[in-house]
Amino acid sequence: MAHLTPGTLFGNQFAMSAWNNDHTRFEADVYELEVIGKLPKTLHGAFYRVQPDHAFPPMFGDEEVPLNGDGNVASFYIKDGHVDFKNRFVRTPKFQTERAARQALLGRYRNKFTDDPRVQNILTRTTANTHVIYHANKLMVLKEDARPFELDAETLDTLGIVDYQGTFRCPTHTAHPKADSTTGELVGFGYEAKGEASPDIYSFTVDKHGRVTEEVWFKAPWACMIHDFWVTDNYVVFPINGLKASLEQMKKGGEHFYYDDNLDYQLLGARQNLRMPSGLRRRADVTRTPSTATKKTGSWFWTLMSGPTATSPSFLIAKVRSSSPTQPPSGHQCSGTVSTPKAAPTR
Ligand SMILES: [Fe+2]
Repeated sequence: MAHLTPGTLFGNQFAMSAWNNDHTRFEADVYELEVIGKLPKTLHGAFYRVQPDHAFPPMFGDEEVPLNGDGNVASFYIKDGHVDFKNRFVRTPKFQTERAARQALLGRYRNKFTDDPRVQNILTRTTANTHVIYHANKLMVLKEDARPFELDAETLDTLGIVDYQGTFRCPTHTAHPKADSTTGELVGFGYEAKGEASPDIYSFTVDKHGRVTEEVWFKAPWACMIHDFWVTDNYVVFPINGLKASLEQMKKGGEHFYYDDNLDYQLLGARQNLRMPSGLRRRADVTRTPSTATKKTGSWFWTLMSGPTATSPSFLIAKVRSSSPTQPPSGHQCSGTVSTPKAAPTR
């Protein structure tokens, strides 16, 4: 598809916006929202929401992945029985650069090889569009391909990229970190942590003061999308699936991910003092259901939307928190092994 130029209309690409599933592209302030019913006078705080919202028609038109929209954050600020609304795009380098040019300059979702040559040296391609959280007095908007952006909690002005006071050492950061309500910690990870399509994972804990206090680097059996994870008092668990990243495919101008149906679905656990036990066994009863969506459309995105292909995941568990026992709990069903993929990437 030819690249779109300034003035080009939006196509029929699917939008993930909450506003009638269409691109909104607006920023707004509404002072004194109408309230149906009554808000308690003692209620004081803010509700935040973020959504992907393309500021400009995407370069690849209808082939665009909806997840690639620019981060657009809304706040509903509640005080003394009143509510005020605010809506702002996150001022990412992508947003700022494209706004100056009045057109999209960055190409496919997480594929820098499809960008306009004018943005080859952009600081980060992220759209900051997936999740918004508040931790250690910071309002942060997140997307898993980069570090979070900090916003002013009141004005929604973009303040900069979060590095947890210089203690964070990974270029990527999950959009779904988990808050530990007992300790005030934030537990998270970054995948593709040593560059595009690298199998490296950075598992970390940020304390209630906003500094990294635990970190573990380790390798997954292959590079795949790890959108979310699970955290318990003692463990963190990562889903390792067949939605693989391919640098080769990216260099050819294709998508960041493709679905490899030949891979089993695994879960991998790790945190502080990770020591990958040797001789772990993979579960034998993994079953897989072919993904009809993948076969029909060839799109990793629709595979993602239709769910993983495995119905009985296997697991890997290792020591995960500094206070946890060295071995997984007895009788735990989740021993497994970091095994080599059954098949090499097919594209
Ligand atoms: Fe999510």
